[in-house]
Amino acid sequence: MVLNDINEEGLEETTKMVKSKFGSEVLPIKADVSIGDEVNQMRKKAFSTFDNIFVLVNNAGGGVSSFKNILARTEEDWHKILDINLKSQWLMAKAFCRKMKPQKFEPISGKVINMASIAGVRPEAQTPVYSIAKAGIIALTKILAAQLAPKMTVNSIAPGYHITGLYNNSEQALKDAMEVQGIKTPLNRLGTVEDVSKVAVFLASPLSDFITAQNIVVDGGVITVGVAAHL
Ligand SMILES: NC(=O)c1ccc[n+]([C@@H]2O[C@H](COP(=O)([O-])OP(=O)(O)OC[C@H]3O[C@@H](n4cnc5c(N)ncnc54)[C@H](O)[C@@H]3O)[C@@H](O)[C@H]2O)c1
Repeated sequence: MVLNDINEEGLEETTKMVKSKFGSEVLPIKADVSIGDEVNQMRKKAFSTFDNIFVLVNNAGGGVSSFKNILARTEEDWHKILDINLKSQWLMAKAFCRKMKPQKFEPISGKVINMASIAGVRPEAQTPVYSIAKAGIIALTKILAAQLAPKMTVNSIAPGYHITGLYNNSEQALKDAMEVQGIKTPLNRLGTVEDVSKVAVFLASPLSDFITAQNIVVDGGVITVGVAAHL
C-alpha cells in the first residue's frame, strides 16, 4: 500500500498503524498532491516499489473552515481551495491511470475512488469555493469513468458531516459547524469515518464491478430528506 499525505507526522502514525494492524507492506510518501511534479515523483516511487496499483483513492482535501460568501473570497482562496480539492484529483488521475489501465487484471484493471462532498451536490453558500471544487470532482469522476471504460471503474463518494481532522476530530466543533448552517440529520447522529470507509471498501471490491461514473452520497439523509429535526 502507498500512503500519501502532506502532513509528515500523520503519515508516520498511519503507516505504523497499518503495518501493525494488517502486516501490509507500506510505502509512505510525503507529497503535495496539488503540485504536478510532486505527484509525478510519487507515481515513480510507487511503481518502482510495487508492480501494480489496483485502487487509487483521492481523499486529500480541505479549506472548508472559513465561512465567507463567494463575493468576499480572494483570488488566493479560489486557487488554494480548487488546487487542494479538485486539481489534485485530476493530477493524480493523469499520473496513475495511464499505468493502471493496461494492467492485466480481469475484468477490471483498476479502480478510482474520488472523495467529493454533499457540498458538491447541494452547494453551500458559506463554503462556496469548496462547493464548486466538490461539484467539479463529481464531473471529473464522470469524465474519467467514460475515458477509462471498459477497463477501469471511477466513482466518487459524497460524505455529509463526519467527525474527522476537518473538524479537529471534535464532536463539538462538528455540531457547531452544523448549527451555523442549520443542518439536521434525519438518521439522528453524526457521521463517522467508518460510514465513509465502508463505502470505499465496497467500491474497491469486486462487489461494485458493474458500478461506474456514480457519486454515492453518505450523509444520513441530510440533502435528500432535508430538515427532519434531530441532534
Ligand atoms: N469530514 C467531513 O465531514 C467531510 C465531508 C465531506 C467531504 N469530506 C472530504 O473527505 C476528505 C477527507 O477529509 P477528512 O474529513 O478526513 O479531513 P482530514 O483533514 O482529517 O483529512 C484530509 C487530509 O488531507 C491531507 N492533505 C491536505 N492537503 C493535502 C495536499 N495538498 N497533499 C496531500 N495531502 C493533503 C491533510 O493533511 C489531511 O491528512 C476530504 O476530501 C474532504 O473534503 C469530509
